[in-house]
Amino acid sequence: MTDAPPPPYAGPQRVFSGMQPTNGLHLGNYLGALQKFVALQGKYECIYCVVDLHAITAGPDPKELAAKTREVAAAYIAAGVDPAHSIIFVQSAVREHSELAWVFNCIARMGWLERMTQFKDKAGKHAERMSVGLFDYPVLQAADILLYKATHVPVGEDQKQHLELSRDIAQKFNNDYEAPGFFPLPEPLIQGPGARIMNLREGTKKMSKSDPSDMTRINLTDDADTIMNKVKKATTDPLPLPETKEGLAGRAEVENLVGIYAAMSERSVDDVLLEFGGKGFGVFKPALAELLAAKLAPIATEMRRLNADPAALDAILSSGADRARAIAAPIMAEVRERVGFWGA
Ligand code: TYM
Repeated sequence: MTDAPPPPYAGPQRVFSGMQPTNGLHLGNYLGALQKFVALQGKYECIYCVVDLHAITAGPDPKELAAKTREVAAAYIAAGVDPAHSIIFVQSAVREHSELAWVFNCIARMGWLERMTQFKDKAGKHAERMSVGLFDYPVLQAADILLYKATHVPVGEDQKQHLELSRDIAQKFNNDYEAPGFFPLPEPLIQGPGARIMNLREGTKKMSKSDPSDMTRINLTDDADTIMNKVKKATTDPLPLPETKEGLAGRAEVENLVGIYAAMSERSVDDVLLEFGGKGFGVFKPALAELLAAKLAPIATEMRRLNADPAALDAILSSGADRARAIAAPIMAEVRERVGFWGA
């Protein structure tokens, strides 16, 4: 006889995602995540976090951390996340994130974490010298999501494996504590041409905040001249753009630029190639740079305006933390009870 499948999760549909306050945000963060944060607002209850607990895995930066945290919150709002509807808050302000992460540390298995490619990439050959926090990063990410019983998580493709781990942790908690359907198995929302934006110089590396060369990425705060210069210097090849998607095979840098154009204009890759197929980069690159500048300039202007008034941002973040805590606290109380803690 086979066991009956566990009951499906029956709670509300909820979106959760987060970004680290490390360096400035770039086009990959925008197209892989932030643009989706905005689009999901009408459809779900949305909770967007600035994950400062995750940021300290990259080393201490106490003088800058609070300012960088506000900057990410400003980017959320400038891009179109509406704090009157969506919850915008800072991870460390809701202590339950750390508390649930500890419970999940006792659920997740070493072998699961040892398979995480992001840790391997960051640690390189020096795993034994990395902090335990960096190794544990994806467990805290699972706690972030499940503390709100979030069902949908908009992220870039590089987060796919971390989301699979969150699902494994949710499932094992539900099994170990005989709580079928207690935690949902969160669904990653990854699809679309913006899910994996590559480095402008090397189409095999992802666009990243940590690349030493600023020419490899477009920052959300770059002005029109800087964008034009970076796009013009982006690696391409001497051939014209292909007429169809198949023609992008083996041309990683070209595929990336076309993907950026498509994601930024919210059109399909096929549609973009219908317009630019057969044309050279002398036509396509200026069109791409102009599109980027036109879309990013209002965001950068609004970010500057918001950053000039930290008190107003702090008010939004404290109210966001109160709203987040109001959802998290009863869920954490239930976890404490399931686990059997004294006083729960
Ligand atoms: P972070 O700050 O490194 O990245 C923030 C988001 O940007 C996406 N991203 C990209 N998308 C497309 N192309 C790229 N080149 C690119 N680079 C970055 C990331 O996939 C991410 O969605 N671990 C998370 C932060 C986090 C989180 C969470 C996310 C902590 N807790 C809970 C969701 C739910 C991260 O990668 O942050």
